[in-house]
Amino acid sequence: MSSEVSVAEAVRVRVAGKINLALLSSKRRPDGYHSLATVFQAVSVYDEIEARWAPPGSFSVRVIGDQAARVPTDESNLALRAARLLRDLVATGPVGVELLIRKSIPVAGGMAGGSADAAGALLACAVLWDLDVSPEELAEFGARLGADVPFCLTGGTALGTGRGDQLAPVLSRGTYHWVLAFSEGELATPEVFGLFDRNGFGASGDLQVPPALLNALVSGDPLALGEHLVNDLQTAAWALRPELETLIEHGTELGAIGAIVSGSGPTVAFLAANEAQAVDLSVDLSCSGLCRSVKRVTGPVPGARLIN
Ligand code: C5P
Repeated sequence: MSSEVSVAEAVRVRVAGKINLALLSSKRRPDGYHSLATVFQAVSVYDEIEARWAPPGSFSVRVIGDQAARVPTDESNLALRAARLLRDLVATGPVGVELLIRKSIPVAGGMAGGSADAAGALLACAVLWDLDVSPEELAEFGARLGADVPFCLTGGTALGTGRGDQLAPVLSRGTYHWVLAFSEGELATPEVFGLFDRNGFGASGDLQVPPALLNALVSGDPLALGEHLVNDLQTAAWALRPELETLIEHGTELGAIGAIVSGSGPTVAFLAANEAQAVDLSVDLSCSGLCRSVKRVTGPVPGARLIN
């Protein structure tokens, strides 16, 4: 459906990274994936995706910003795959796009950076090409690209089941103050799940997010939330990157009220009691020499949103 009024030359979308407040995993399934029960929270570290018209059939991506050189710009780029998928499934006329990604979410850091870019590209291209596509359809297409893409579209705080792609809202009061510690290297999610499998980890029965964690979110109680953060992948991430355990111990000694490896890591999220404590914690952690950089963020924040 093409607009007779005006066609945007470029569309910009801002999309947040996520942390997992709880991540419970089954054993490996026959399809290679793991059933999860996870509580996502979108936090205020953002990638920006700009989509510009290109000649029909021309699809390209350029990446700038933090760790840009680590992001592939070939056909494996998730944002590019998202644009092509949308073209194949929805576009009725000839389309093309030039994508520009401004990265701030760490690459292979356990914060869904790639999925965020895919979510941003889906929304940006849908608007640029003036496609008739619903948010539900975008989420369905997104799930084909990565299990975290549907959450990156919606943001906020949500319970993810299935591969993490079946979402239900979680009631969450207030704003939480986090300090993210970014690591020098990366951890590939399949590698972490691989070690998890080899160690025989994973539940065989039902996965249940601790009710105390959900209650903490309902009452907006950071202390209780900090106590009940849980990540089944943390042991495997520690085994691959032993310095993460040292980092968590150090942040806890510095006064963090909760600490958890985000997703498959290696980013570590430290929860602070309030903004002032987050400022102190971020200063102390950045002097520790135990991480590449630190960033103070808040959550929950919305998912992919247009910014022009
Ligand atoms: O969904 P996504 O492609 O981002 O996941 C990357 C990898 O993480 C998968 O190929 C799989 O190895 C692992 N994974 C998993 N179970 C999930 C989600 C991801 O085993 N629920």
